Amino acid sequence: MPPQSTPKNGAAFRRKLLAWYRKAARDLPWRRTRDPYRVLVSEFMLQQTQVSRVLDYYGPFLRRYPSLDALARATPRAVREAWDGLGYYRRAANLHRLARQVVRHHAGIVPSDPEVLEQLPGVGPYTAGAVATFAFEKPAPAVDTNVQRVLRRMFGCRTAKRIRATALALQPKRGKTAWAFNQALMELGALVCTARAPKCPDCPVNRLCTWYLKSGNHS
Ligand code: ADE
Repeated sequence: MPPQSTPKNGAAFRRKLLAWYRKAARDLPWRRTRDPYRVLVSEFMLQQTQVSRVLDYYGPFLRRYPSLDALARATPRAVREAWDGLGYYRRAANLHRLARQVVRHHAGIVPSDPEVLEQLPGVGPYTAGAVATFAFEKPAPAVDTNVQRVLRRMFGCRTAKRIRATALALQPKRGKTAWAFNQALMELGALVCTARAPKCPDCPVNRLCTWYLKSGNHS
């Protein structure tokens, strides 16, 4: 498959997944904003922590540091304190360094280009894509372990390279649709296409799924 060609059933997959997302999506605070700073904070918190736990820390952190500038001005010690309880403090240190770098080198404006985002502290390919699509509504793949699993099962992707190419080929052209599609892929991985005991009978795209059709446990 050349990188840009849509996988078989790609259009039907997108359509069904988006219809499901409109009904089933959780109302999460970082889905109500397009503020790049707020999206960054959510993505850093979600890197190694479950949604339910992040929900307890996200609001208080943003009340304490309501803007990238406010975070950049804080002391490392105060930032660590605000992160206290979430663990993996490297994330907090990186987020703080990121805020300072954006103030210093990008005039305080979070870049929207994934390649530029990837140069910032603590931002790997996943987070760069997530900020580009969730804050800037760009058709940029955001492939975390959940999305990897969904695409591996769905389209029979065997390698990381193939998974990325598939995620890229599936991106809707319209930014708003791309935003919803990338949230929906993540939501399917979190709620239905889980690592252990996936809920295939409830899956909106099971009839298109390589893995489900192979498993033979469908009616
Ligand atoms: N994990 C990382 N980003 C997420 C998002 N936008 N929604 C739910 N879980 C996530």
